[in-house]
Amino acid sequence: MSKAKRENWSGALGFILAAAGSAIGLGNIWKFPYITGLNGGGAFVLIYLLCILLVGLPVMLCELTIGRNTRKDPYGAFRELQTQHSRLARFFGWLLVLGAVGLVLGGRWGFAVVALIFAVLLLTKGFATLGLLGVFGGLAILSYYAVVGGWAVAYMLKAFRRQLDYHDLGAAQAAFSQFVENPGLMVGFQLVFMVLCALVIWSGVRKGIERWSKILMPLLFLLLLAVILRSLTLPGARAGVAFFLYPDFSKLSTAGVLEALGHSFYTLSLGMGITVTYGSYLKREQNMISASLWVIVLDTLAATMAGLAIFPAVFAMGFDPASGPSLLFEVLPATFNSFPGGFGWFWCGLFFLMLSIAALTSGVALLQIGTAYFMDQFKIRRHWAILISFAGVAALGVLSSVSIGNWENLEALKRAIGMTFGAGTLAGSFFDTLDYLASNWMLPLSGMFIAIFVAWEWGMRPADAELRQGAERWTDRWLPWGRRRIESSPDAAPGAEAGAEHGIELPAVSGIGFLTIWNFLVRFVSPVIILLVFLYSIGVIKPH
Ligand code: TRP
Repeated sequence: MSKAKRENWSGALGFILAAAGSAIGLGNIWKFPYITGLNGGGAFVLIYLLCILLVGLPVMLCELTIGRNTRKDPYGAFRELQTQHSRLARFFGWLLVLGAVGLVLGGRWGFAVVALIFAVLLLTKGFATLGLLGVFGGLAILSYYAVVGGWAVAYMLKAFRRQLDYHDLGAAQAAFSQFVENPGLMVGFQLVFMVLCALVIWSGVRKGIERWSKILMPLLFLLLLAVILRSLTLPGARAGVAFFLYPDFSKLSTAGVLEALGHSFYTLSLGMGITVTYGSYLKREQNMISASLWVIVLDTLAATMAGLAIFPAVFAMGFDPASGPSLLFEVLPATFNSFPGGFGWFWCGLFFLMLSIAALTSGVALLQIGTAYFMDQFKIRRHWAILISFAGVAALGVLSSVSIGNWENLEALKRAIGMTFGAGTLAGSFFDTLDYLASNWMLPLSGMFIAIFVAWEWGMRPADAELRQGAERWTDRWLPWGRRRIESSPDAAPGAEAGAEHGIELPAVSGIGFLTIWNFLVRFVSPVIILLVFLYSIGVIKPH
């Protein structure tokens, strides 16, 4: 597809709602409220917001500029922007070779092979490796995300058919284990969820993703609001609000701060090519800075609303809060069904409808990464690209589904993973393993490399020029410190040639403004912070 014919969002609202749809997902609902409650409520939220502004926003803008500048899928985008035989990529490639040798000496063969594969990719394809990681990582994540999406759909149906009528946790737990131990049911609902995702993107970016986001996102917020109102009016709801938001700085540990960083990344869907892909459908005249801020505000709002919907109810009904699947599929059904007045099933149904929507709009984004890649790189039609992505994700996803109930169902795979990566990696199911790899390895590493790529490979000047397009109101006027000197003549701007390749000229701007701050964050602050989080999450740095 030529650049001119590439699909695009109809306007700012379409992009913002679609991007918010990708950002607002299970992370906002099953993770954020809980880690906030445990880490000092309001105090944690403050740190989290800081992380979003110092790391999340800068990296998000990097991905958007890459996407819009090239109008390509992540793989094509990185390939277009890197220099031929990039020295920086070769440097990292050889670094990885060294790492692989170290791993072999340490007897960790499996990891050595993975390191070698990435080393070879970096040495042959350069930074386009990042795009590949995004595309295939996104599809891998969808393979287990769809499992939980399927649960949400299943629980919504069960709730409305009044099949979740238990009032205590024991019964809820028993029902959930029985449910997940039924592979047929599990795979069935997973496929239902994926078919829904595929149907949304079947009609394309504007008629599919954008149109559905415009319907589903407002609905999501309405449902959240309804559940919040019900939850807050329960007697004893106060304790839940206190648990969630009361700022208690004494509960905020180093571990909590690092967790805030990690989560800010996950919740904004960064580091996976999705923001590059969605950015590639942006028009030049759109303001990416204000759009990003909107996405961040909506994402944080949804996370906060989820906390206010969940904890007041949980505390009012006398349950203990939890996180992850056990919060959503065990504590909550028991909570809702204990509501006074007998309409618990209805609130439960609304909640799971909300959850299905949140998961669906994220699943759509994940499926679109692969679809865009197959369309752009292999020049095939959208429907074929969707079918190929779908088939790959479904095949991998079945493994997750089947492994949750019982790892032993996949004896051969389990043994193979255990032999290559060591028995330690087998603590959870295949599902847990994928989730762990994605959240703790893939996202932070590719996020860090994206910042490094923009800062030191593509260069801040063309990136600045791209970001400035459509956002002049923000970049040129807002120079609180220093003189304001904007010259549009290309000869006056040393960076003009770089931007000119893509038809943009960068005016000389002096003074400290938005772009200056962004450049500083992307060059120095974000990569370092991400590296710290990464080392922490894989256990190299141990806070006390
Ligand atoms: N942000 C999503 C959530 O909060 C999860 C997610 C991470 C995601 N990366 C993504 C969704 C990429 C879509 C695309 O649950």
